[in-house]
Amino acid sequence: MRRILTLTLILCVAAACSPAGRNADTDFPPGDAARGAVWFTESLGGAPACSTCHTLDGTKLTGPSFQGFSAAASTRIEGLCAEDYVHTSIMRPADYLVNGFGNSMYNQYGQRLSPQQIADLTAYLLTL
Ligand code: HEC
Repeated sequence: MRRILTLTLILCVAAACSPAGRNADTDFPPGDAARGAVWFTESLGGAPACSTCHTLDGTKLTGPSFQGFSAAASTRIEGLCAEDYVHTSIMRPADYLVNGFGNSMYNQYGQRLSPQQIADLTAYLLTL
């Protein structure tokens, strides 16, 4: 019994942050950071571009800047790896709010963007 529990735990942890970027919500394909950089400044599927609320240079707009984000991402929520944190932040922004910011992120990206676009954006943000 103990062994089954341990095994289940290991499988869950592995599934949460495997190299292919899969998580429990959706199967995300591997992301392409170069494409993500393009999506970042474009309005996709009628949704606002990320860059309307987020900068890369430390300037705060409606949302936090992504300067130095790759280092911060894996430390935001204990037990949640960077990739899963970013996927969740895009799909369900209200789940985790960054200190000092309200729940004002556009919340329909999960419906408007494809899993590939979300994976690309995630790959891009984790290069910053
Ligand atoms: C209307 C403004 C707005 C838009 C557009 C927006 N965001 Fe946000 N975003 C926010 C706000 C405000 C926060 C902080 C509150 C929170 O955590 O939800 C945030 C937080 C985040 C975080 C967590 C940041 C951290 O430092 O931990 C990520 C990741 C993120 N957004 C990604 C995106 C991506 C990718 C897009 C485009 C697909 C996007 N956002 C579009 C306002 C926005």
